[in-house]
Amino acid sequence: MKRRVAILISGRGSNMAALIEAARASDFPAEIAVVISNRTDAAGLEKARASGISTAVIESKPFGKDRAAFEQALEATLSDHGIEVICLAGFMRLFTAEFVQRWYGRMLNIHPSLLPSFPGLDPHGQALRAGVKISGATVHFVIPETDAGPIVMQGAVAVRDDDTAETLSARILDVEHRIYPEALRLLASGRLALEGERCSTAGSGGRIEALISPATG
Ligand code: GRF
Repeated sequence: MKRRVAILISGRGSNMAALIEAARASDFPAEIAVVISNRTDAAGLEKARASGISTAVIESKPFGKDRAAFEQALEATLSDHGIEVICLAGFMRLFTAEFVQRWYGRMLNIHPSLLPSFPGLDPHGQALRAGVKISGATVHFVIPETDAGPIVMQGAVAVRDDDTAETLSARILDVEHRIYPEALRLLASGRLALEGERCSTAGSGGRIEALISPATG
């Protein structure tokens, strides 16, 4: 049985599209049952509909600071669709600790930095200002703290001296689109184990390549 997944978005939905595409494969262990947006104008909604995926909009604005009431509406939609796993994909709304705890181990997020470096806003700008030579993207389980939680998968890119936030973010986005479907595959096929703050992967330990940056010579 494929695990039933909800993708939560607020914007353009490129990671959502990568997850939908991966889940088309007959041997993918999860199916995207619904895409939920907290904004009616999220561009990703149209992409989801065009892919034949059910969509729902639960506008968060009218709920103001009442996060619990928004989450009640969200839980109702999740339960209508029999959702077992949530993938946050550019979802720009914070949850209460209660909601996060209820979904602990069943809710993933992607962030465009090598966490725990550069959580929060403008991770690409943070990376450039810090002068790191390698950055990347992280898929992690969601915990109450923002952009933290057991790390499932990371992908790295070299940072170039002439990078801007835009060029770096485009290169990292490619990596995001590769690792998010893989991380979901691992979770949905039961290969992840949570041990305290760490996540381990059954059957990992294949070929590991070093990314060394800057490359000289
Ligand atoms: C991505 O960079 C993701 O890592 C971050 O928000 C952005 C969403 O982009 N959490 P998209 O909507 O998936 O294109």
